[in-house]
This record gives sequence, C-alpha cells and structure tokens, in this order.
Amino acid sequence: MDVFEAIAARRSIKQFTDRPIEREELDRLLQAVVEAPNHRMTEPWRFYVLGPEARRAWGEALGARKAKRVEDPEAARAVVEKVGSTHEALPAMIAVATTLDDNPEIREEDYAAAMMGVQNLMLAALDLGLGTHLKTGAVMDDPRARAAVGVPEGERIVAIVHLGEPAAVPDARARRPATEVTTRVA
Ligand SMILES: Cc1cc2nc3c(=O)[nH]c(=O)nc-3n(C[C@H](O)[C@H](O)[C@H](O)COP(=O)(O)O)c2cc1C
Repeated sequence: MDVFEAIAARRSIKQFTDRPIEREELDRLLQAVVEAPNHRMTEPWRFYVLGPEARRAWGEALGARKAKRVEDPEAARAVVEKVGSTHEALPAMIAVATTLDDNPEIREEDYAAAMMGVQNLMLAALDLGLGTHLKTGAVMDDPRARAAVGVPEGERIVAIVHLGEPAAVPDARARRPATEVTTRVA
C-alpha cells in the first residue's frame, strides 16, 4: 500500500475482530514509531504493550472516571465493569509515553515527535491489514491509569492506541479541503 493510499484509508476503528496480534507485527509497528523525526535525536518515546490484565485495569480506571457522573451505585459499578471488559477484549493496546525534559521547548518537540511516531504506526498498521484508534484525555494523568500501565515518574503518557483487525470500517469524516485553509505568502 502506498503512503497516499494509507493516509486516505486510515480511520479510527472502534470494532475489532478476535484475530490476535502477533508479537512480530507489534515489533514492526513500534519500529515504525522510532523512525519518526525527532529533534536533537532525543528519541523521547517509550512503549507499554498492555496485556489483558493491564488493559482491564486501564479500562476500569477510565470507567471509574466516567462512573463519577452516574448517581446510582449499581449503575456506576456496571459502567466500570463494561469499560474494563471492553478494554480487556481489545486485540492489542499500546500506551505511548515520552520522557519529560526540563526544558519546555524540548518537551514540546518531544511530544510532537512522539505523535509523529504514532501516526507512522497508524499508517503502517494499514499495510498489515490492521486498524487503530488513537485515544487521549485526562485519564492519561490519572494515577490509577498510570499504575495500570506501570509508567514511572518522569514519563508522561501521551497516547493510547487500540490496535486490531477492523470488524467495521467507518466512512471517512469530511474535512475542509486544504486549499480552503491555505494562504500563499509572497
Ligand atoms: C491527538 C488526538 C487525540 C484523540 N483522542 C481521541 C479520544 O480520546 N477518543 C476518541 O474517541 N478519539 C480520539 N481521537 C480520534 C479522533 O476523534 C478522530 O481522528 C476523528 O474523529 C476523525 O476520525 P478518523 O480518525 O476516522 O479520520 C483523537 C485523535 C487525535 C489526533
């Protein structure tokens, strides 16, 4: 698959088949991350490949956050259980973290580099017949979620990637054409 095809075909995939993800496939995709540009060659990315227990623990941490908005305790417990089991059932889930440089300029560059790496992974996944969904949000800083991943102090989780064979591929979401948001400057 050429790069333009992969860019056009990529979607955020929400439903996956049961097909397991091979270790070799994951290794190839993580290698695609580390080939991303990174200023000063800081190589800021760190990967956490979560097994079923860790996925459930992450899902329960996320579910507990959602459940705060649910008044009925029984319904709140059901939310935690549902989000936990949905995450456990994912074919694969990767937490991408970055190191945290003291210099804010380098921290920002490192964040950008990590996300460029994540895009590499998402495009490369298509070549393996796999789909991805990038997730972020305040849960990434939640102590319970961080504990689920086992991320140490001094690293920040910047992306969660769900990965698997797509069971359904949504239609493309319309974008404004680039020409509409482009200014040619003499
Ligand atoms: C930085 C970033 C964070 C995202 N975080 C979430 C998220 O937390 N939850 C979610 O459902 N989708 C998330 N997405 C996916 C976007 O919602 C998705 O890319 C957008 O709806 C367009 O759909 P598409 O990816 O299928 O083209 C995120 C995307 C990016 C780039």
